[in-house]
Amino acid sequence: MLKLKDEDLLALRAWMAQALGMEGEIYRPAFLARRLWSRMRATGTPDVASYLALVRGDPAEALTLASKFLVPTTEFFRNPEVFHALGRELVARTSRPGWTALRAVCAPCSTGEEAVSLAILLSELGLRGHIVALDRSRRSLGALRTGLWPRRSTEKVDLRRRARYFRDEGETSRITEDIAARIQPVCCDLGGGIPADGVHLVMMRNFFIYLTESAQGRLLHEAARALVPGGLLVLGRVEILPRAALGPWALVERDARIYERTGGAG
Ligand SMILES: C[S@@+](CC[C@H](N)C(=O)[O-])C[C@H]1O[C@@H](n2cnc3c(N)ncnc32)[C@H](O)[C@@H]1O
Repeated sequence: MLKLKDEDLLALRAWMAQALGMEGEIYRPAFLARRLWSRMRATGTPDVASYLALVRGDPAEALTLASKFLVPTTEFFRNPEVFHALGRELVARTSRPGWTALRAVCAPCSTGEEAVSLAILLSELGLRGHIVALDRSRRSLGALRTGLWPRRSTEKVDLRRRARYFRDEGETSRITEDIAARIQPVCCDLGGGIPADGVHLVMMRNFFIYLTESAQGRLLHEAARALVPGGLLVLGRVEILPRAALGPWALVERDARIYERTGGAG
């Protein structure tokens, strides 16, 4: 496994900033090294300097490496038990003042499946609500802009939901207008913060884990700022807030990694 030397890490981050406009400082060096290593092996380059020389002259390889760093993996109703627990928590809050029309953020949303799943959940629970779907990758947000996904990506959605919320168009499936109308895709770099406030829910699954501790701390601070008191933060199944970071957070659904923003300082 590759361990990045300081000068390699600096050179890689400089390339990320210059070629991809990405702030490489927010990602864990070990994460960057793993992703870089897989491309060095695939291209047969012996060291980081030669790989960076290669990638500077090869736009296709640069795109492949960028996609490695962005990890676009996602799916509809990923970890369905999380949506179940989330539905329970949202319903329990609907009678609170200010919770009649929910404002949610998917940060990040990748190709949008998570935002669509959340919109379907709200619709099924009879809840009013709107979702801002954020991601760094403009390309990933394309599906949300058109409302179309590859048909095979909807095949794991249960049949009842598929029939109610998707219309097949050849090799693609289109989400219904009522679901599309609940979602607004926005391209943004979460390293610069969460461009929202007064929200009831921040879904931040499978991103946090790739970040350095200080970037995690800044993002948690941003989530606490964006959420109303009592609002919910959802992390990924393998992500957990360290005790020291708990401050304004109370764990309300352990297995689903759902935290409540308490009244305390962010
Ligand atoms: C593994 S996906 C998570 C998608 C979804 N939350 C889920 O759990 O299925 C990670 C996403 O993070 C996005 N991402 C990575 N770095 C980012 C950044 N600095 N700002 C915004 N999005 C970023 C990538 O583009 C990718 O779509």
